[in-house]
Amino acid sequence: MVSSSILSIMASLFLIVLIFSATSALPHQQRVKRVVKGSSTSIETIPYQVALVVDNFPICGGSILQENIIITAAHCCCSYLPNDTLIYAGMYNKKEMRNLKGIRVKDVKIHEKYNYTGDPTPDDIAILVLEEDLVFGPTIGKVGLMEEDFAVPVNATISGWGSTNCNFSLSNEQACNGWFATELQSGTLTIQRRENGLIYAPSTEVTGNYGDSGSPVVANGKLIGIARNCDIVAPNIFDFDATSILDYLPWIKSTLESI
Ligand SMILES: *[C@@H]1O[C@H](CO)[C@@H](O)[C@H](O)[C@H]1NC(C)=O
Ligand SMILES: *[C@@H]1O[C@H](CO)[C@@H](O)[C@H](O)[C@H]1NC(C)=O
Ligand SMILES: *[C@@H]1O[C@H](CO)[C@@H](O)[C@H](O)[C@H]1NC(C)=O
Ligand SMILES: *[C@@H]1O[C@H](CO)[C@@H](O)[C@H](O)[C@H]1NC(C)=O
Repeated sequence: MVSSSILSIMASLFLIVLIFSATSALPHQQRVKRVVKGSSTSIETIPYQVALVVDNFPICGGSILQENIIITAAHCCCSYLPNDTLIYAGMYNKKEMRNLKGIRVKDVKIHEKYNYTGDPTPDDIAILVLEEDLVFGPTIGKVGLMEEDFAVPVNATISGWGSTNCNFSLSNEQACNGWFATELQSGTLTIQRRENGLIYAPSTEVTGNYGDSGSPVVANGKLIGIARNCDIVAPNIFDFDATSILDYLPWIKSTLESI
């Protein structure tokens, strides 16, 4: 049951994720053609993926950097007190929340220049410090940061529990706000350019969308981006972007040192 507070929170977020799969909830005929190609994945393949959960609803994703450190999007944090958000690691199906333990957030470090306006803004990056350490194993582990320049285009993996479908008859803000995945989805998208602190993956197929904000974008085994926004620029054409890890390395490192 999604509460009205969560709906208003969701409405105030511009989010993201992942498209889809043979096992996602909608019958095949209802799917928007070509917003496809992602699929249900296992948490073992993406053990660094976590869900940021408010009122039992995964509002965003994040990545594990250390046993007690999560990196995510700033806009996933700005509407909530740390006490409202629980971090679930090692989860594949959202229904597992019943049996898994959500971990509280002790501290939130939002980029100092981040200015939440409700629209996509720069410096959309935050680090969460957990109240207790995660226990690493086959379903829970960390991801390394991309620290070396890379050439584009490059193929990358996006994952999360966000929308698996879009209705292009609706406005850009509403088109993909629904169809939230039950099982963790992942897909491959191609990063075409990196500029102004963002990496971009225009696509007619796999994209990150509503609910995928904060989730990992990984290439060559390293975290290269944090899902931030997805605009529909024409029917069936997405322009997905993610905060570029490479461009925020100094901030990430100094923030980690300050914890
Ligand atoms: C958060 O929870 C802790 C522990 O229950 C409590 O001490 C603290 O006052 C809470 N903070 C807020 C802002 O509600
Ligand atoms: C944040 O953004 C709003 C809306 O664009 C602007 O009015 C305000 O001055 C900005 N605040 C800062 C601190 O930059
Ligand atoms: C990305 O993956 C696709 C499908 O495997 C492949 O055709 C394409 O060459 C890859 N692109 C890059 C830049 O590696
Ligand atoms: C898409 O949105 C339009 C306009 O609101 C609506 O009429 C239609 O039923 C929706 N399609 C689906 C598959 O939900």
